[in-house]
Amino acid sequence: MGDVKAELEKLHQQIKACVACPLHRTRTQAVPGVGSARARVMFIGEGPGRMEDLKGEPFVGQAGKFLDSLLASVGLTRQDVYITNVVKCRPVRGAPPYENRPPNAEEVSACAPWLSQQLALIAPKLIVTLGRYAMEVFLPGRKISEVHGKPFSQGDRIILPLYHPAVALYRVDQKETLIKDFQVIRKVLTEISSGARG
Ligand code: URA
Repeated sequence: MGDVKAELEKLHQQIKACVACPLHRTRTQAVPGVGSARARVMFIGEGPGRMEDLKGEPFVGQAGKFLDSLLASVGLTRQDVYITNVVKCRPVRGAPPYENRPPNAEEVSACAPWLSQQLALIAPKLIVTLGRYAMEVFLPGRKISEVHGKPFSQGDRIILPLYHPAVALYRVDQKETLIKDFQVIRKVLTEISSGARG
């Protein structure tokens, strides 16, 4: 195996130069992802927001702080995992300074090769999708209200769909559910380590 870290860094540079969809015109910078090239767990959100576009790192706003505390609740840090988004550039509407919006189908499909390459390089055992846009990539046609917190085996990896931390910040019921669902990560990782899964 080559140097995965160097390969991932090269991929990040390619993502930063991407002009495959119109989102490159309104971005400050692309947001490839952050974390360990050898992570066992990959978290996938929807797309960068305003703060992420400015900083070049995923989940650095309010939702990111919440994500950090959720990670800590299962004994993980940003350095232990890899965090990225379905689309690497901020989807916007309106005029500058713009509003955030979800990515559309064309943007998701234009960006899909980057996510595929990240998955191929890092080869995580567990993929945690945050929100319904990321869930849709791996579990199309499912309803997040029905599948959140349930692990799905897909080939040699496990998909765990969770609610999005940004939504959970203003929906108290979802926040409690997300905190509870996060504990499933610990359980799945223990099962993977013991050989019961994967
Ligand atoms: N929401 C996301 O889905 N991703 C981010 O990086 C930040 C907020």
